[in-house]
Formats: sequence, structure tokens, C-alpha cells
Amino acid sequence: MVRSVIQGVGSALPKRVMTNDDMSKVVDTSHEWIVERTGIHARHIASEGETTRSLAVAAAKDALAAAHMDASAIDLIILATSTPDQTFPATATSVQADLGIRHGMAFDVQAVCSGFVYALTTADALLKAGQAKAALVIGSETFSRILDWSDRTTCVLFGDGAGAFVLTAESDGANRGILACKLHSDGRYNDKLYVDGGPSTTQTVGHLRMEGKEVFKHAVVNIASVMQEVLEDAKVPASQIDWFVPHQANRRILEGTARKLGISEDRIVLTLDRHGNTSAASIPLAFDVAVKDGRIKTGDLVLMEAMGGGFTWGAVLARL
Ligand code: UT7
Repeated sequence: MVRSVIQGVGSALPKRVMTNDDMSKVVDTSHEWIVERTGIHARHIASEGETTRSLAVAAAKDALAAAHMDASAIDLIILATSTPDQTFPATATSVQADLGIRHGMAFDVQAVCSGFVYALTTADALLKAGQAKAALVIGSETFSRILDWSDRTTCVLFGDGAGAFVLTAESDGANRGILACKLHSDGRYNDKLYVDGGPSTTQTVGHLRMEGKEVFKHAVVNIASVMQEVLEDAKVPASQIDWFVPHQANRRILEGTARKLGISEDRIVLTLDRHGNTSAASIPLAFDVAVKDGRIKTGDLVLMEAMGGGFTWGAVLARL
């Protein structure tokens, strides 16, 4: 059986760090409120010249170095983003050019905060189908550029960054690689988390709008249920999970869903405190932190999940 095996993980963050105290100089908020309601202490914010493309390229190079692979081996690039450099062409093709790759295919996936699990699932399907041999799956975002910096209910939540996986199709991958994936969407909830602009409607980029409480309610239910689905698919009990790498939206959501499934707190990779919510970049960013600090090791069983605008949600179970 062909498996998509994770060969390397990488990430990149903008240089500038914005703390909650810095945030309280921009909107009427406090460090205490943000920490109590979300778990966020600080986030990175892109400066002029740092873009979704440049962060994606830096994360991709880091992942290729970790995989000990040359960019020329890559024949598939999927970039998950809701903040592309341009409406078109796909930022993935710019990343392809910057990496000096002239073959294979590159495209963007747009599933907001679930983008990385959507991109991983798509890459897994293409690798298994023999359409590609080696994939770069990237989540890269500059949400700071679509925030309404006068809206304290949203601007305190998000940050910028990028993370990347290198995956290869292996027919003798033993029990390594992606073991199960499951995606969902329900477009009835489009208006709960959206951007109030776009090329076809306003000809502007627009700003992020969210009914936080509504998203929160659905997130707890949907995430727990899709995690259960992938575990059942792979016939793996939650007790066997070595690491839980959730989308980093809210500490209360991810701890609540882990508790529901019986995953202990010391198995959760939490980077929300220093990254904020980086949308499609949050899972690979958190994953990379835990690989680099020695927590996630080859052979570990890792459960990833996300929920975001659409609504979209999904989960991926993989053995590193
Ligand atoms: O990544 C995509 C998925 N996104 C999510 O999963 C986000 C899900 N939602 C959430 O994480 C939470 O709903 C929030 C963190 C966004 C908000 O937390 P909450 O506990 O639902 O707070 P709330 O919206 O009910 O607001 C409580 C109070 C309100 O004041 P009143 O009406 O009770 O007087 C808000 O005006 O807190 C006020 N508030 C703030 N106060 C200080 C809202 N934002 C702020 C702020 N600083 N930044």
C-alpha cells in the first residue's frame, strides 16, 4: 500500500512580535482579558516586505532541509492560505518559482483555518493516486492584513506565520505516514466567519468578521466528532495518540475537545500563547515547534484537527 510519509517539517515567522500589552495600545483590551478568554500572550505580525509568499518560501526551505531533500525532488506544491499575495495567480506558483522548480504542479487551497488539513488530505490523495511523488504542503498566512484594527473582538486573536511539510509517496513505509483523513463543510454558516469583500462583489480585499460565540459553539462539537471519525477509520483508540496538534484558535476549545476524547493535557502541543491564531499556518507551525524541541519523534502517532470559516473542518491522523 502507498503511504504519504512526512519526511520533514519547517516553519517561518515574521520578525516583529506584538504582545497583548502592545495590543492594548491599539484597541480597548487588556492582557488579562485576552489570556483568560483565548490563551494568547503574543503574536508575530508581518512587516513591509514580509508576505504570505516570502513566509511560505522560508518555511518550505526549512522543511526541505529537515527532510535532507533538494527542491528539485518536489513535483507537487499545495499552499493553504486565505491571504494570498494576489487574487491570482495562486501563491503556490510563486513559491514554486522562488524554489526554482519547473516541473510538476502547484496550486492554492482555500479552506480558511482548516486549510492545512484540506491541503494535507488533497496531497495524500494525489500521492496515493501516483499523480506525484514528493509534495510540499504549506500553510502560510498574513491575517494581520485583513484584520479590522478597530475591532477588538477579532484583531486580538490572529497572527502571521507559515509552516510546511515535505511528504513522499512510499510503498514500503511500514506503518508510517498519513493513516486517515476526514474533511467536512457546511456552507449554511458562511456568515459566521467571513471577509466582507472580494473581487466579484466589492472589488476590495475586505476585513475579517466573526461571530465568535457561534464559531466557538460549533467548533467544540464538530472538532470532537471529526477526531472520533479518523480514529475509528484507522481503528486506533485515543489512548494511543502520542501528540495532539490542534488548530490554535482558542485554548478553551482545544483543551475541551482533548478532554472529550480522553487525551491528557500533557499530550497537547500548544503554541497559541506565542503565535495567536495563524489560520492555515497554525498546525504546521505548532508541529514544527514540537519536532524541533524534541517532543514529536519519528514513530509517534499524531492527531491534527482544524475548524474554520465556511464552516469547514477536518482531521488527519499520521505516524511520523
Ligand atoms: O480559527 C477559526 C475558528 N475561530 C474560533 O474558533 C474562535 C471561536 N471563538 C472564540 O474563541 C471566542 O468566542 C472569543 C475569544 C472570540 C470571544 O470569547 P467569548 O468568551 O465568546 O467572549 P464574548 O464575545 O462573549 O465577549 C464577552 C465580553 C463582551 O462584553 P459584554 O458584552 O459582556 O459587556 C465583549 O464586548 O468581552 C468583550 N470583549 C472584549 N473585552 C476586552 C470582546 N473582545 C474583547 C477584547 N478585550 N479584545
